[in-house]
This record gives sequence, C-alpha cells and structure tokens, in this order.
Amino acid sequence: MPSAASGPEPVGDVLKAVSVEMSGPRIITANDGRWGQVVSEEFSYAQAAGSFITGTEALVADAARTFCNENMAPQIRAWEQAKAFPVDLLRVASQSGLINMAIPEAYGGPGLSVRAACIATAEIAACCAAAATTFAANDLALKPILLAGTEAQKDEFVRALIARQGLASFCLTEPDAGSNPAELRTSVREDGSDLVINGAKQWITNSGIAELLVVFVREPGTQGNKGIRCVLIPTKTSGVSIGKPEAKMGQHASYTGAITFTDVRVPKSNLLDGDGFKIAMRTLDYSRPVTAAIGLGICMGSLEDALPYALTRVQGGKPIAEHQLIQRRIAIMSSLTLETRLLVLQSASLLDLGQPSTHTASVAKYRASTNAVEVADHAVQILGGYGYSGEYGPEKRYRDARVLPIYEGTTEIQELVIAREALRPYRNTQI
Ligand code: CAA
Repeated sequence: MPSAASGPEPVGDVLKAVSVEMSGPRIITANDGRWGQVVSEEFSYAQAAGSFITGTEALVADAARTFCNENMAPQIRAWEQAKAFPVDLLRVASQSGLINMAIPEAYGGPGLSVRAACIATAEIAACCAAAATTFAANDLALKPILLAGTEAQKDEFVRALIARQGLASFCLTEPDAGSNPAELRTSVREDGSDLVINGAKQWITNSGIAELLVVFVREPGTQGNKGIRCVLIPTKTSGVSIGKPEAKMGQHASYTGAITFTDVRVPKSNLLDGDGFKIAMRTLDYSRPVTAAIGLGICMGSLEDALPYALTRVQGGKPIAEHQLIQRRIAIMSSLTLETRLLVLQSASLLDLGQPSTHTASVAKYRASTNAVEVADHAVQILGGYGYSGEYGPEKRYRDARVLPIYEGTTEIQELVIAREALRPYRNTQI
C-alpha cells in the first residue's frame, strides 16, 4: 500500500485487481481477535451464518488494516491531544475508499457491501475508534439522500460531494430531542421558492468539518413524528453557525458540536421527498450495524492489547495468562468479541440481502456497545497500571468505548426497539 503522500490505491480498485487470487479457503489468524476462516466468493450467507468472510472481505480487512498501520497508528496520540483529525488525511481516506464505503459506485462511492464496510470499519476502530466514527458518519449522513433523494439530488449532493472528498453531517439530535426525535423543533417554512430554517442541533458528528448538513426539520403546525422533513443545507449558507467542539470523555479526534440555524434559506429543491421521521429510522437501520462494527473494533483492539501482554507479564513465577482468574477475563473477552462479530456480520448480511433488519440491527448495536465497554474494561484490568496509564492503548479504548451505549440510539432505546420488534409477530395472535 503506497504512503499517504503518494496517494493510496482505492480499496475498490485493489479488490477488483486481486480478488481472483483469493479462491479457496485460508485461515487469516488462529485467534478470534481477527476474522477467522475465509471462504470462496460463492458461499451462501445463510449457510455461513456470519462466521466466515469471503476473499473480497478479507482483502477489504487487509486494506483497511494496512491503511491504518501506515497512515494513522503512529499519529493517534498526537491527534488525541490536539482533539482533531487531520482533514488532509480524511481526503486521503476518502480517495482510498474508506469513507462512503457502502455508497454505490453509481453515486461515486466504492460500492462495498454493508458487510465489507462493517469489516473495514472494525479494522479502523481497532486502530482508532474516533477515526472510525469520523469516517462512518459520512455514510450515515448521505444515506437519507440515497433512500429518498431524486436523481438530481443524488447527483448534486452525493456524487459531487464524494468527488470533492467532502464530508456531510447527519443532523437529527437537538438539545431537547435526543432519544425521542419526534420532539425535534427545528422549523422549516416555505417562502416563495425558498425554504427558511430556524433552530438548533446538538452532538453532531463532523459538524465542524462537514460541507453539507442533512437536517431533520419540522413543518409548521405539526407535532410528534408527523410533519418531520429532511432538508439539505450547505454549511456555508448564510445563517448557519457551527459551535466549538464538545469537550468529551473519549473519541477526542472525532469532531462533535452544536449547529444553529438562523433564517437559513435554501431552495425548495433541497428538500427530500417523504416522511422525515421514517427516513431517519430507515437510515438508522443501516447505520446501527456499522456502529456495532466500531464496538467490534474496540473488542478486537482490546484483545490485541491484552493477550500478548498476559503471555509475557510474569507474576508469581509464571505469565499472568497462566493464572486462572486472568484466563476467566480472557474467556469473557474472547466470547464477547465473537458474539459481537457474529451480530455485526448477521445484521449487515440482512441489509445486503434486502431483508427486514430493524430487530437485528438494534440487537447488534445494543450488544456491541455493552460488549465493547466490558471488553475494554477487562483489557485495562489485565494490563493493570499500564492499562490505566495514558501512554498505552487500553485507557484510550476504554474512554472511546463509553460513548457507544449513548450515540446512534442509547442502549435503552435499543431495548425498546428490540422488544417492540420481538413482540410484533405475536401482536395479533389469538391464544
Ligand atoms: N423503518 C421504517 N419505518 C419505521 C421504523 C424503521 N426502522 N421505525 C419506525 N418506523 C415508522 C413506524 O412504522 C411508524 O409508521 P406509521 O406512523 O405509518 O405507523 C412511524 O415510523 C412511527 O413509529 P413509532 O411509533 O415506533 O415511533 P416512535 O416515535 O415511538 O419511535 C423510537 C420510537 C424507535 C425509539 C425512536 O424514537 C428512535 O429510534 N429513537 C432513537 C433516536 C436515535 O437513534 N438517535 C441517534 C441520533 S444519530 C447519532 O447519534 C449519530 C451520530 O452523530 C454518531
């Protein structure tokens, strides 16, 4: 893989060039910190039930890991301290196909499957969860346009943005509307051929670096989940004001901030057709497996921090890996990582197959979030003082993991969605 300076090869092109070499099974690694057994391209998702990956997916994983090792790993501490991700590197990542991964080639993206995008996202998160959040936020922001946009809107706001290696932000949450977006108040009204937007959004990923804001707004005289629309607002539009980055516990290199809209005018052609609440919910069905993949990456990285250390750290005359209480922690970490991997692949596979996925996406996001926090905690404990030190990986992973049960729908919201979907088939059952 060439260096950032010479411009990496796009992932999509790498895949096309070498995928034919990947026929026949091979084992990537023996432990479940990585992906496990590779099967041929023709395997059936149902047969594999999520535990195998294809040759193409293995190449995507390798390409993402190589990109991270070459372009990110040595600098992560510095970015963490500077509380910023280098914008130039975001452009390189975009050129390389690691941003907009699941956007179809027809609209300028690499056109990866959701599974492959999740696999790459996990590799990026194993290196730096803040980078994975920053990258994945673009797919999230552009998804409403792919779901509900006209061809002209896709051309202007997706294809052209990707061609410029530009970023977009998904703007749903408000100061008083987080878990319940049906309470959002940012308003839209018609004025001649324009729309006029007023209000405020909060906790918006990439808000300080995005050039396009995908904003959920309310029509006059509406309430609850009815009357919500989605409007596309270029950040440079007069009346858009971007707040300073939030001070956070973790994921410092990911920009999170507030945005206010004061008499912001855009043409009516910037409005997406359809019910904005449903567009947001359908978008979250797509993004939650990717968020789960960030949790998986944290689990993978935590295993990689803890297992070699446990084998070399000697206490009581033997490596701590030989002490049963440490083995118990390792067993829990390994099991939760495998559970997370299976859920990520299962939920992504359903999306690739066009099957209903709301339940599985929420289960994946729910379990991956809590698993990432728990696995990162075990890694801190195994490394002891080194785990607690800010000089090594586990401390950062632990802080980075803690937002997972909060963003993209809290753990409590996932529990509501999971229960609702589990009960749904039985609602009209006579007993
Ligand atoms: N797909 C399509 N339609 C859906 C849907 C889905 N997944 N979920 C609900 N709908 C439809 C329903 O069918 C219903 O349609 P009808 O009115 O025609 O019957 C309509 O939407 C309303 O559904 P509900 O009554 O279930 O809606 P609700 O108001 O009770 O919603 C909730 C409850 C699902 C928990 C919802 O409030 C929710 O998901 N909240 C969490 C919000 C969230 O995840 N925020 C995170 C912001 S993004 C972020 O954090 C990104 C970042 O920067 C990192």
